[in-house]
Amino acid sequence: MQTISTLHLVLTALLGTTVNACLPSVQARHATDATSTETQLKLLEARSRNTLSTIPHRKTILTNVRIFDGWRIGEPTNIAIDGDSITFDLRNARNTIDGQGGVLLPGLIDSHIHLSQMASLETLISYGVTTAMNMGCDNYTLCAAFREQPGLTSVFNAGQAAVKSNSTHATVFGAHGYVTSPSQASGFVAEVFGNGSDYMKLISESNGFGQDIHDALVNATHAQGRVSMTHAQDHASYVVAVASRTDGLQHVPYDIPLTQEMAHRIRRQGQFVTPTLNIARITVSNLTVEAIISPDANLTYEAGVTSLSRLLYAGVPILAGTDANDLAGSFLHGDTVGNTLHTELQLLTSAGMSEVDVLRAATVVPSYWHNLTRRGSIEEGYR
Ligand SMILES: *[C@@H]1O[C@H](CO)[C@@H](O)[C@H](O)[C@H]1NC(C)=O
Ligand SMILES: *[C@@H]1O[C@H](CO)[C@@H](O)[C@H](O)[C@H]1NC(C)=O
Ligand SMILES: *[C@@H]1O[C@H](CO)[C@@H](O)[C@H](O)[C@H]1NC(C)=O
Ligand SMILES: *[C@@H]1O[C@H](CO)[C@@H](O)[C@H](O)[C@H]1NC(C)=O
Ligand SMILES: *[C@@H]1O[C@H](CO)[C@@H](O)[C@H](O)[C@H]1NC(C)=O
Ligand SMILES: *[C@@H]1O[C@H](CO)[C@@H](O)[C@H](O)[C@H]1NC(C)=O
Ligand SMILES: *[C@@H]1O[C@H](CO)[C@@H](O)[C@H](O)[C@H]1NC(C)=O
Repeated sequence: MQTISTLHLVLTALLGTTVNACLPSVQARHATDATSTETQLKLLEARSRNTLSTIPHRKTILTNVRIFDGWRIGEPTNIAIDGDSITFDLRNARNTIDGQGGVLLPGLIDSHIHLSQMASLETLISYGVTTAMNMGCDNYTLCAAFREQPGLTSVFNAGQAAVKSNSTHATVFGAHGYVTSPSQASGFVAEVFGNGSDYMKLISESNGFGQDIHDALVNATHAQGRVSMTHAQDHASYVVAVASRTDGLQHVPYDIPLTQEMAHRIRRQGQFVTPTLNIARITVSNLTVEAIISPDANLTYEAGVTSLSRLLYAGVPILAGTDANDLAGSFLHGDTVGNTLHTELQLLTSAGMSEVDVLRAATVVPSYWHNLTRRGSIEEGYR
């Protein structure tokens, strides 16, 4: 349930305090500096320069594939990939690959991730995750460099997360996008979008903003024709986030389950939810970690599953997101990028979603709710 891309700040803070001895691998990484923003920027910039001219434009036919069209898996058919686009026009292809009757899925979408390393894009693409929603940004130059690396996962970025100073996210996780009054909301939101962000991110937490600041931030975002994503992992914070009419609720309540009435209200208000079950499973499996991430509420995985079942009953759109963080290291064991989306899909299935709805949660549903073009489905001209 990390919500910001500054986990290194968090961990730096932790290193000086209680769990110092528990984080040797993170200390080692700090020492080499390979994960620093400066190093990553250089890697990304060099890669953009070198790959643009070298990716060959070849048309390739896939024969005998059964396409998932967002609802069902079709009869075996043929399709082609031409440059960066899907096409059903099979003329003038250079290569043919026999799909052997296998199922062809669109590129998967992870709707909640925290990126700071170029290597993560290579890992993500190797797991078929072709689009990722980066749920926080601490360096706008770095986020822009992640956006569209040829041949790798493409990334849509939140801005710097809005947070209350002295809240858990500020003190434990190092978030510093402070907003202290409703009157600052429009200025903060203008900076987020002025720096090229795709959507706004704000934090609802027990010691965080009051309702007034939430409402002002969401309203200011909507006034710009944009959408906002709100972190909320406990019941009380969810009440505030729902009332603010934020667009995307990130996580579900893991202390006291969401009531059915709240789930219906979420549906009526046209909001969507990214439950992030995998990170919850990791968090609740270690009391040290849970106490750091959620000092004020005791979390259980079961409360999250109950929350999800009420959302499903109400017909709320559910998006698959992992909260994977490429700087989590050994602190959040198992919170890795790429493979975790597949774990998340399994967990959503176990929690009661139908298999087709789970596939939709990582393809067509996020494409619609995150307003992505040419993604989430296998259609003529799609990416
Ligand atoms: C991003 O990080 C680089 C390298 O540390 C730094 O030079 C640059 O000023 C930062 N940019 C922003 C917008 O914070
Ligand atoms: C934050 O906490 C510090 C120390 O506890 C305190 O001095 C400061 O006034 C607090 N700031 C706000 C905005 O509450
Ligand atoms: C980008 O964000 C920074 C603060 O992070 C702010 O000082 C600057 O004005 C913003 N740029 C634009 C064009 O809004
Ligand atoms: C936000 O917008 C809603 C709906 O337009 C309005 O009722 C509310 O007063 C606004 N709140 C703030 C704090 O701007
Ligand atoms: C959705 O995408 C379209 C096309 O890219 C854009 O014009 C529009 O502003 C976007 N809407 C939101 C809410 O981001
Ligand atoms: C969380 O659980 C612990 C141990 O059972 C208990 O002492 C504490 O009061 C609980 N905290 C909350 C906020 O319910
Ligand atoms: C819980 O997490 C802490 C911090 O990452 C770690 O040091 C500790 O070994 C973990 N405990 C267990 C039982 O896995």
